[in-house]
Amino acid sequence: MKTRAATVIRIAGPFGIVDILLSVLLGMVILSAVPARAETGNVAAPPIAGRCVACHGADGIGKAPQYPNLKGQKAAYLEKQIQAFRSGARVEPWMSAMAKSLTDEEIVALAAWFAALR
Ligand code: HEC
Repeated sequence: MKTRAATVIRIAGPFGIVDILLSVLLGMVILSAVPARAETGNVAAPPIAGRCVACHGADGIGKAPQYPNLKGQKAAYLEKQIQAFRSGARVEPWMSAMAKSLTDEEIVALAAWFAALR
């Protein structure tokens, strides 16, 4: 089972759908360990934030140099950027893939949560 999974990863990676799925899974694990309201005071993490935290951090600080910090950023700016990734106006392989499946409501909730992180 383990070997099979490793083979699939080798075939689909790097930066294939398996990488994205793995980052989503990892994100969910990380997010589930974060008390929902502890760091924002009053804005709860939307469940879909589990897809973001593997790269952008459960505290909104990017996990690697290429992943920008989102903590405390203006919600309107974050919304605009995610919409731009979704529409194709802004292109970056990871983010374009991440944004594609988000609804308007999810984008608003994600932007509000990252903006409220302190
Ligand atoms: C696999 C890593 C990865 C995941 C997962 C990911 N992002 Fe990103 N994100 C990036 C990268 C890389 C950039 C920088 C894009 C660029 O260089 O243009 C970025 C940029 C952004 C930006 C623009 C920041 C700015 O200052 O302009 C926003 C907003 C954002 N991501 C939100 C999200 C949200 C919301 C999620 C979850 C739905 C998410 N990201 C998931 C890698 C990721």
